[in-house]
Amino acid sequence: MERTVSQDERAAMGSDNRLKLGLFGANCSSGRAVTMVPERWSGSWADCLVLARMADAAGIEFMLPIGRWKGYGGDTDYQGATFETMTWAAGLLAQTERLIAFGTVHAPLIAPLIAAKEFATADHIGEGRFGLNVVCGWNEGEFEMFGATLRDHEARYDYAQEWLDIVKLAWSAPDDFDFAGRFFQLKRVRAKPKPYGGSRPLIMNAGASPTGQAFALRNCDALFSHISYGMSLDETTGYVKDIKAAAQRGGREIDVYTVGVVTCRPTVREAQEYWRHCIVDNADWAAVDNILAMRNITPETHGAEEFDRLRNHQANGMGGLPMVGDPDTVTKQLAQLAAAGLTGIAVSFVNYLDELPYFCAEVLPRLARLGLRAAP
Ligand SMILES: Cc1cc2nc3c(=O)[nH]c(=O)nc-3n(C[C@H](O)[C@H](O)[C@H](O)COP(=O)(O)O)c2cc1C
Repeated sequence: MERTVSQDERAAMGSDNRLKLGLFGANCSSGRAVTMVPERWSGSWADCLVLARMADAAGIEFMLPIGRWKGYGGDTDYQGATFETMTWAAGLLAQTERLIAFGTVHAPLIAPLIAAKEFATADHIGEGRFGLNVVCGWNEGEFEMFGATLRDHEARYDYAQEWLDIVKLAWSAPDDFDFAGRFFQLKRVRAKPKPYGGSRPLIMNAGASPTGQAFALRNCDALFSHISYGMSLDETTGYVKDIKAAAQRGGREIDVYTVGVVTCRPTVREAQEYWRHCIVDNADWAAVDNILAMRNITPETHGAEEFDRLRNHQANGMGGLPMVGDPDTVTKQLAQLAAAGLTGIAVSFVNYLDELPYFCAEVLPRLARLGLRAAP
């Protein structure tokens, strides 16, 4: 029998933990580490499934995949093999009990009604545990493969707004509906079943620009933001406060999450050495330079010093917050994020399966002792 799932339960990702944890990027070969080390993440289905079950058993709240269609080349063809995120999420939801699996969906590349039905289907498979990450796209090379045009930045979000309005209508409208917009004219639309449990899937996005953030404030339950390494606790606190206040001015609530890259070892020195080994000595620099060039970041456009800084940052988890150290250090960093008002963080590892057990054994109990999570 279908149980009732409240919208609050979905927003809380099914747990009372003050700091939610997720895994980011496991559907892609090499995950988020642009490295050549042989133990880099395979991204295979077998590994993803074992990882999801391990995370589920440990009470990790969510898995967030990357919507990527074309790898970045280099020596490893970084993120060259990626699972399509909706089918990946549906497969994981079928074989887990508690965690939220997100689909990361490019609004311009799929008709909203097909998307809405896929989301409802995955949500029924997971009995209310599907989450949606709406992305508008930025990578021209990917859009070319679809014969699709990458609209200008503002129009991308205008399009995504209509797209999401249609998805939400398909999820909620009790009767047939028409839709007349700038991009879509739809007649007598009918969509059943509705999502599971009488509520709708959690919606997030990760817009960084004012337009992207305004989209999140209008539509989403969660905004994933880059909190950069140099940002102080006070600055982060102020940033989160401003976003929440802006949402409240629009009569909404929003949770703020970020992304990070964990290298946790018994000693700080071991962690730093492994980090250096993967992310400096054995970085896939050709792939890093391809990624940067796509964003028009070259020594010519940014100057040699700034280019080097960005280059190093990119190899490390594509720019996520680095958390390198022993369990006490990593716990402290996570606790600071919670103190700054963040609801949670999606982390990645060089090899998720090899490294998650140590993180769960050492960091989760420390977070529990600080009252940030239930005891594992
Ligand atoms: C956590 C996170 C996940 C993201 N996932 C994807 C993705 O899977 N595919 C994609 O094309 N863009 C992805 N992005 C890019 C964002 O959707 C967004 O386009 C980017 O942050 C730039 O913001 P803007 O669109 O407001 O300019 C992600 C960004 C973040 C921070």
